[in-house]
Amino acid sequence: MISLEGKKILLGVTGSIAAYKSCFLIRELIRAKAEVRCVATKSALDLVGGITFSTLSKNELVSDLNFENNWNNHVDLGLWADAMIIAPASANSIAKAANGICDSALMAVYLSAKCPVFWAPSMDLDMWNHPATKSNIDKLITYENKIIPVGEGELASGLIGKGRMAEVIDIIEFLRYNIL
Ligand SMILES: Cc1cc2nc3c(=O)[nH]c(=O)nc-3n(C[C@H](O)[C@H](O)[C@H](O)COP(=O)(O)O)c2cc1C
Repeated sequence: MISLEGKKILLGVTGSIAAYKSCFLIRELIRAKAEVRCVATKSALDLVGGITFSTLSKNELVSDLNFENNWNNHVDLGLWADAMIIAPASANSIAKAANGICDSALMAVYLSAKCPVFWAPSMDLDMWNHPATKSNIDKLITYENKIIPVGEGELASGLIGKGRMAEVIDIIEFLRYNIL
């Protein structure tokens, strides 16, 4: 198990209902003495205010709102990070990454990242079970990205099944065991 102390962690946040949990994830990463920078999608920012990510991570948030003026940021961030984790990862962002679609700051950073990339999917059980999602996850695995197993239980929709984002404590443990 590896210490996260001093590790540079790039956290991608997407528009899943679990976006608020990424705030707790940032807190735990900071508590573990990691350096954290956040990149959020527009949909993520519809769910959680950007100032929360900046404040908790102690770094300016990168998003489509401030990315256009500084497009080279994606290369810098990709090189800066020791690890990138997308948590929560929406079905949409998983699909875009699997297919190399680059239409947002997050996707530009993902495609530029040279570090290990971790995904913590978060979605309803039918989205998770859809063959398109399964095939996109398989593609990410072929890119040597690591998938943090989803949890099972009550989902925000009220349905019960697989698709919950892994608990923050389990994400931290997964990183500790799998970060290089
Ligand atoms: C309140 C709300 C909750 C949502 N929760 C999820 C979710 O848990 N998982 C998911 O894949 N999509 C969810 N969506 C749909 C995504 O936000 C939508 O697909 C969006 O395009 C994702 O964009 P992004 O991947 O760029 O963040 C939700 C949408 C809303 C409005």
